[in-house]
Amino acid sequence: MTPRLNSADWRAAARSALPRFVFDYVDGAADDGLCKRRNRDDLDRVTLTPRVLRDVSRLETGVEVFGRRWAQPFGVAPMGLNGLSWPGGDEALARAAAAHGVPFALSTASNVRLEDLRARAAPGIHWMQLYVMHRGLAEGLVERAARAGYEALVLTVDVPVGGNRELDIRNGFQVPFRPTVRFLCDVARHPRWAWRMARAGRLDFANLRAEDAPGADSASLQAALLTRAMDRSLTWESLAWLRRLWKGPLLLKGVLHPDDARRALDHGADGLIVSNHGGRQSDAAPSAIAALPGVVRAVGGRAPVFMDGGVRRGDDAIRALALGARAVFLGRPLLYGLAAAGGAGVDAVLSRFETDLRRGMALLGLENLDDVPGSGLAVGGPDFSPSRPSRISPHQGDIR
Ligand code: FNR
Repeated sequence: MTPRLNSADWRAAARSALPRFVFDYVDGAADDGLCKRRNRDDLDRVTLTPRVLRDVSRLETGVEVFGRRWAQPFGVAPMGLNGLSWPGGDEALARAAAAHGVPFALSTASNVRLEDLRARAAPGIHWMQLYVMHRGLAEGLVERAARAGYEALVLTVDVPVGGNRELDIRNGFQVPFRPTVRFLCDVARHPRWAWRMARAGRLDFANLRAEDAPGADSASLQAALLTRAMDRSLTWESLAWLRRLWKGPLLLKGVLHPDDARRALDHGADGLIVSNHGGRQSDAAPSAIAALPGVVRAVGGRAPVFMDGGVRRGDDAIRALALGARAVFLGRPLLYGLAAAGGAGVDAVLSRFETDLRRGMALLGLENLDDVPGSGLAVGGPDFSPSRPSRISPHQGDIR
């Protein structure tokens, strides 16, 4: 077996392990995939100029978030249907995250009930992601998450409607599966995946069972979540409703505009995740890394700002931190690891990120991450005005 040295190697492994319709669901993006590509292209353009002859014999990779120490500046992004990549995928991701001292965010669209995840994967830093399909249902989820001990609530705000995922449409992607000839041929070419899935039994959106919405039809709720049929009437005013329900840290995920960042804080948010959903929603959206400095400026240090989208190596995390993020979230790379080798794959991907990060820090002359911008590291890039002008010296000369 060729060694899996990076996210691209794990992606190739996932591609051969998964039926096409699953791989496309994980890897795919909206419309023409421009936003997904932009996430990467813009990260590639950010340069960090190394500082030399600094003591990097002892590296501190931890960061402080809401009074908790994360061992590294990474978190597991909330992702739905992780059980499609590997049975028990949510639990495997959460356990690997805990082993690495980093947080795991459970999606509303998980394949494990939120209470069971806590029971099976604790101790660990667990955040709950919320989709609001209708208010009553959301209230139930928030109350359950608080009771189960989730530390933070992440309201995803970039899904007023589902993005246009043409690969999923072409593949006839749906859960439960529809056994078309094409589907059966796809599955037959991946017998190991098929065997694992058959042994695991039926896959569902475990947080939305009949008992969770008395009076509602559970099958249609499940279908609505699959098609991302959300409550489109959600507005800034709705945040007050959530704020009353949830006492812990409340984050908005999917904020890209500086004015929205300001409004979020004015409406009681405690943190922001700058994200375009990995390019799976609006294909016209800017890359997350390009949007980050504007949001960081607007927030002005009042709350932690996180970023996700296109992070594939340790250096990408340092790039985001240099532009003002407290930490980054990882999406697809962890699912590639999960699909290729289950929990061991996730563990290997996280280890790779950690090794990369340590090497990157040493090469850049960074002893710790608490205040990367204050370290005198120079950040370059065509579109990225510095997030903290007094502390970062942009220089345009080293743009690739
Ligand atoms: C997601 N994402 C996502 N986000 C969210 O808030 N709730 C969800 O249920 C999901 N589901 C989901 C499924 C899959 C298969 C993927 C790949 C992504 C978006 C996710 O949290 C994150 O924003 C992106 O994945 C980050 O981009 P990268 O790292 O995948 O490039």
